[in-house]
Amino acid sequence: MSTRYLITGGAGFIGSALVRELLQSGEARVAVIDNMLSGKPANLEEVKERVDLHVTDIRDFDAIRPLLAGIDTVFHLAAIPSVPRSIKDPVPSHDVNCNGTFNVYRAAKEAGVRRVVYAGSSSAYGDTLVLPKVETMTPKPKSPYALQKLLGEYYGSVFHSCYGLEAVSLRFFNVFGPRQDPGSPYSGVLSLFMKAALENTAPTIFGDGEQTRDFTYVEDVAALVHKAAHAPGVSGNVYNAGNGNRYSLNFLWSEVQKLAGVSIPAKYGPPREGDVRDSQADTTAARRELGHDPQFPIEEGLRRTFEWYRASC
Ligand code: UD1
Repeated sequence: MSTRYLITGGAGFIGSALVRELLQSGEARVAVIDNMLSGKPANLEEVKERVDLHVTDIRDFDAIRPLLAGIDTVFHLAAIPSVPRSIKDPVPSHDVNCNGTFNVYRAAKEAGVRRVVYAGSSSAYGDTLVLPKVETMTPKPKSPYALQKLLGEYYGSVFHSCYGLEAVSLRFFNVFGPRQDPGSPYSGVLSLFMKAALENTAPTIFGDGEQTRDFTYVEDVAALVHKAAHAPGVSGNVYNAGNGNRYSLNFLWSEVQKLAGVSIPAKYGPPREGDVRDSQADTTAARRELGHDPQFPIEEGLRRTFEWYRASC
């Protein structure tokens, strides 16, 4: 039987969690496109026999177009993430996040794909006066990355209205969990906290540490992305993919220290350019229309994540 699902960025941190979610839910095989820029074969190691891995780049339309033939749903997760990286070096992230995303929608339309589920970002909201952030708010992106991710949502709704391609966008809220790579200064903050605690070194907190984020465990995000492939009557829409809570960095560093059994004061540096102050998802629409049902409170997500780093680093 041919594969029904294709995941761009499927060898990455979130993409590989989605691969495992789809396989655990009964799929025989899934297809992955990944250029291995941040994706890693190790992320797919235990499932590699059931993955059709295409090492290619979404910037290359002619290369990806034939790979979408016969696919029912494309999950488009490939991206160059990070707010500060997009400020420092906007060209690569624009190429991948805007031109690459356009290629994916265009290839999906030409191949007759039924639906594209797109990984957007909570950064699209920018700073809002009111929390939690709800999908009806006017987006106010503060960085190239936030704007690039927003463009992908708009392309989804335009491909839906102009060409009849089903498109659902999910705004991911600070996803964390096993396999998040702590290897770059642009890595997700929790992966950096975990690494610092295990190495007994002080992390750097940018700003006063009282900024807050809706940290969302990767398996909850993967489950929601899967549900978004099949929910009826949602094409053209945008939904928050968050947990619904928010925690400060100071609180999180104290929790990570407890898990590791260390006591190390963090270093503090100047706030990061383009940083949003607070972030928290209103999950009402995602719960009602997609069946979103997050299972991992922050304590449990942190515990599982820390155990993974302890075993792997
Ligand atoms: C943003 C988006 C998120 C997106 C991600 C992709 C928001 C609210 N969220 O995450 O949806 O998926 O980009 O990259 O915009 N920090 C430190 N020390 C560090 C690293 C980070 O203090 O060593 C701070 C940052 O300044 C920030 C917070 O931790 O305040 C979270 O940073 P990070 O994990 O990079 O994610 P966001 O930029 O919030």
